Amino acid sequence: MPTPSVSIPTIGVFDSGVGGLTVLRALLDRVPDANYLYFGDTARLPYGSKSAATVAHYTVGAVRYLQEQGAELLVIACNTATALALDDVKRAAGVEVIGVIEPGAEAATLVSKNRKVVVIGTEATVSSHAYRHALEARKIAVREKACPLFVPLVEEGWVEHPVTEQVARIYLSEAFSKEARDADVLLLGCTHYPLIKPLLRQVTPEHVAIVDSAESTAQEVARRLESWTMGKTKPPLASTTRAGSAPHLRFFATDSAEKFRAMGTRFLGLSVEDVLHVDLKE
Ligand code: DGL
Repeated sequence: MPTPSVSIPTIGVFDSGVGGLTVLRALLDRVPDANYLYFGDTARLPYGSKSAATVAHYTVGAVRYLQEQGAELLVIACNTATALALDDVKRAAGVEVIGVIEPGAEAATLVSKNRKVVVIGTEATVSSHAYRHALEARKIAVREKACPLFVPLVEEGWVEHPVTEQVARIYLSEAFSKEARDADVLLLGCTHYPLIKPLLRQVTPEHVAIVDSAESTAQEVARRLESWTMGKTKPPLASTTRAGSAPHLRFFATDSAEKFRAMGTRFLGLSVEDVLHVDLKE
């Protein structure tokens, strides 16, 4: 029997680099019937140490590019870009935009029994207090802790390395000290941290559940698409149709396509092939 044709949305996923592929991986599990356009701003990463104005400027430029390529829904997979630039992106985009902070905060809220959460992220995400605001709005007490060394360690591939373990022990003992001692959720507020989840599990107090926003963001995307198909909200502008098959993936990187292919395969857990180098004008 021939496979029926289905309506396939085109989803643009943005990150400062390859880290957002952890979110793409969750999306592929949850929403396999979609075309994906992934943009990694590898030439200008890290975003985590940059100012809000710079991050907003870079992110808006990149999502405009994704829209030109046909993105009908945008996922800002980068925690730093969501924290610093979500409102700017929403204003600039003509399509729906989903960030990672609200879904992450919601997931942590559902898991925390004593309503106390520790959030770790980049310097910029933590200083923006975007997670604090999202969690406090849900009546959750928050301790935020910047862990700037994790991104370079993960990019180096040191995901099970004794140095990373030592760094994690120091960060987490500070994070869970004093009034945060009885927090029962560790929320991973950075795209890179899911890759060191097993190591973080080893050094996090046993009573603490580890939550990352990739899965809950993918759930939010699935919900949004469902509401489109149920006609509750505007359907995507230009959905294409094709027979049900593996998702179509295209990647755009502002630094070397070759480097993106190599590192991206590690983050996605799948072979990354169709990569185009993009030079965004300032
Ligand atoms: N993608 C960033 C985040 O989730 C981490 C890497 C960077 O600093 O650019 O915050």
